[in-house]
Amino acid sequence: MAGGQGTRLGSSDPKGCFNIGLPSNKSLFQIQAERIRRIQTLASKKVDGKKVVVPWYVMTSGPTRGPTEKYFRDNNYFGLEKENVMIFEQGVLPCISNDGKILLESKGKVAVAPDGNGGLYQALVEFNVLEDMRSRGIQHIHAYCVDNCLVKVADPVFIGFSASKDVDIATKVVRKRDATEPVGLILQKDGKPDVVEYSEIDKETAEAKDPNHPDVLKFRAANIVNHYYSFRYLQTSKDFSKKLPHHIAKKKIPYVNTENGETIKPETPNGIKLEQFVFDVFPQMPLEKFACMEVKREDEFSPLKNARGKGVDDPDTSRRDIMQQGKRWVQAAGATVGSDSDGVEVSPLYSYGGEGLEALAGQTVTTVVQLEK
Ligand code: UD1
Repeated sequence: MAGGQGTRLGSSDPKGCFNIGLPSNKSLFQIQAERIRRIQTLASKKVDGKKVVVPWYVMTSGPTRGPTEKYFRDNNYFGLEKENVMIFEQGVLPCISNDGKILLESKGKVAVAPDGNGGLYQALVEFNVLEDMRSRGIQHIHAYCVDNCLVKVADPVFIGFSASKDVDIATKVVRKRDATEPVGLILQKDGKPDVVEYSEIDKETAEAKDPNHPDVLKFRAANIVNHYYSFRYLQTSKDFSKKLPHHIAKKKIPYVNTENGETIKPETPNGIKLEQFVFDVFPQMPLEKFACMEVKREDEFSPLKNARGKGVDDPDTSRRDIMQQGKRWVQAAGATVGSDSDGVEVSPLYSYGGEGLEALAGQTVTTVVQLEK
């Protein structure tokens, strides 16, 4: 899911193109592409060197599609085969004024905004992504947000876990950092799996403690939007994609004065944008077809949401978390990391999850390094 406009990050480029300041200067898209290349190599070793392809479907939106396509072309698809990278586009929904009218961007054009990451399901149908999956014989799908620099793309453990449980949807969670962290919560509502979004929960509920474990939050399973889908479920997208609820975001939406054709840029929110949320399909699932896997935050979740300087979920914390993970991997392999080092960047082409670093045993890594081939 790479259709967000990254307003909080303050960059006009698609978030996936963002350079988080690693020694290699790799962008989020490049890191993810290289993880796919590595997982293909690891999988190939399991099947006597036969070619393994993990196709990558990148959902963009009106504003991010063009720049994303160009970025992939200019970088030669980061070593992946072009035919195995499909860039498609989510839809839009009209913007509505505070008094319930459809806003016009110009005299002949309705003001629209991307339909939220829940637009995924309709886009899978409209862009023939499901047909492509069917023709390739795909049975298992991993879906994630582009902004998580630690995402284990196509994680074989998660896919194996989900497939062995024979569920239709599974989701990864991490422990919520504190009551104020802006993350949705995975929970059970009326006997069904559900997510309550951070913008839709009151303070008291967010701060409530678990009566059985008063040192932890009652609702602490943080949604990291990292899902497994069975193809047998996803192929039914057309049956539910238009029925997902619409969530409201109050925004400043430019509109046209129909008298004189001038564009008005409001200073305060003058209307609402409607968004579908990707996890709103969860309540459709009977509990026995749904699974949840808690993972370690330091290994799997470090989102890029804010501009540099915020000190939380920003480019510096993304860089730090990758470098620290590399340091842990290198140390676990038996190497020593110098105390002046702020970590080690291990290229995904070299290691997907800390494997294959045995050659470093007994060596010392003294400065910031990038381990490539
Ligand atoms: C999202 C989750 C929240 C979760 C948090 C974890 C939603 C609605 N909320 O919040 O529950 O705890 O991430 O980081 O998902 N995107 C699109 N198209 C859109 C809008 C967004 O593809 O129209 C993509 C973005 O590119 C991004 C992802 O969806 O990869 C999440 O969007 P973002 O706006 O960053 O969500 P948050 O509000 O941070």
